[in-house]
Amino acid sequence: MAEHVLIKDVGKHVDEEVILSGWVRNKRSSGKIQFIILRDGTAEIQAVAFHPNLTDSQFEKCENLTMESSVKIWGKVKKDERSPTGYELDLTNIEIIQIAAEYPIQKKSHGVNFLLDNRHLWVRSRKQHALLKIRHTVYYAITTYLNENGFYRYDSPILTPNACEGTTTLFKVPYFDIGKAYLSQSGQLYAETGIMSLGRVYDFGPTFRAEKSKTRKHLTEFWMMDAEAAFVKHKENMKIQEELIRFVIRQVIKKNENELKTLKRDIETLRKADAPFKVITHKEAIDLLQTKGYDIGYDEDFGAEEEEAITEDAEIPVFVEKWPKHIKSFYMKIDPDDKDISLCDDLIAPEGFGEIIGGSEREDDYKILKKRMKEEELPMDEYQWYLDLRRYGTVPHSGFGVGLERLIGWMSGVRHIRQTIPFPRMINRVSP
Ligand code: 4AD
Ligand code: MG
Repeated sequence: MAEHVLIKDVGKHVDEEVILSGWVRNKRSSGKIQFIILRDGTAEIQAVAFHPNLTDSQFEKCENLTMESSVKIWGKVKKDERSPTGYELDLTNIEIIQIAAEYPIQKKSHGVNFLLDNRHLWVRSRKQHALLKIRHTVYYAITTYLNENGFYRYDSPILTPNACEGTTTLFKVPYFDIGKAYLSQSGQLYAETGIMSLGRVYDFGPTFRAEKSKTRKHLTEFWMMDAEAAFVKHKENMKIQEELIRFVIRQVIKKNENELKTLKRDIETLRKADAPFKVITHKEAIDLLQTKGYDIGYDEDFGAEEEEAITEDAEIPVFVEKWPKHIKSFYMKIDPDDKDISLCDDLIAPEGFGEIIGGSEREDDYKILKKRMKEEELPMDEYQWYLDLRRYGTVPHSGFGVGLERLIGWMSGVRHIRQTIPFPRMINRVSP
């Protein structure tokens, strides 16, 4: 008898007796037979309890099972063509770990606020389980690509003295005698210090933005991977982003076929995105938006709608590069061929999924950077260390930040970011 078999591995034990442990996803009965759907995190299987093969007490235990009860079951693995997993279990014995109280999340559809209030339980449902597995793959794929391409992990701090991405979305926290600190919006500025030691680095952690608007794409706490590389310029920076994202697509297709099916995500659509990405300038993007009827000028940033419109009928991601400098960050390198343009890119996911990456070559000239920071009225004292990088062996360098939840949303075909992270934090929600 094989003990503690994982449901994903039952195929290795056909016609053998195994012991499985898990939770009851569902149960239905028809007279002398109980059909129990058991899940254990790795997969699901239907266990069939046939009264004539069991003692009365064993059968009664099966009858008493409620949704989400935890159990240990014994049974013989049968091949079954009709089953979605290919196998079924002929139940021979059962031990109840706990009979679950009436489970709040039923098969009927629930309102999203109810589901978010019960997020601690909602994570067990099929669709959420699939999303969590895709999240795992995406996270792992990003780090695998970076590790295989010469990037060292270099952790940026979460408590910081200054802003990376503008002062309007900073979360302030009281900080001892110093008075205050801010939660990191992006580890980029610190990643820039790391490359001067290691050449190529990345961080990957929670980042925070006090986004005051409620949208489908914004969390107040989200995960970002910041990559940074010395001696890499704007175009090569985009090439790294493209290779990374195409690697992620292939990994998700390879590892999450079942989960994509559960989410009804068309795999062919994803496969098509694994092709050379399109590149347009910000100016060309505005031209495109104007032909689509949007009232937007050449010196404007996109709103959510415009961002979606750029790729609503595209199958392949689009880089929008070379933005007017005044709508982009202070640290971006000014285009030597056009003093009003930053050498930066936003990577916009296809099918209207919006921006997933923001990247740029960095301003490496001490004087130009200092002037720009003064123009933006940044508190210079707090950025001395950042300016130091341009005084002690400055080099051309570039980097980018991937929004993990945005990328997962696109891979999964899920339009609302709140489902792509275990515990979403939004303007009106910090619990559970
Ligand atoms: O474009 P952003 O603001 O770029 C930076 O923070 C750079 N410092 C990164 C770098 O160069 N190392 O943010 C990067 C990405 C966005 O493209 C988006 O995918 C995601 O982070 N993002 C958010 N995701 C969820 N909720 C929010 N409020 C987000 N804000 C940005
Ligand atoms: Mg951005």
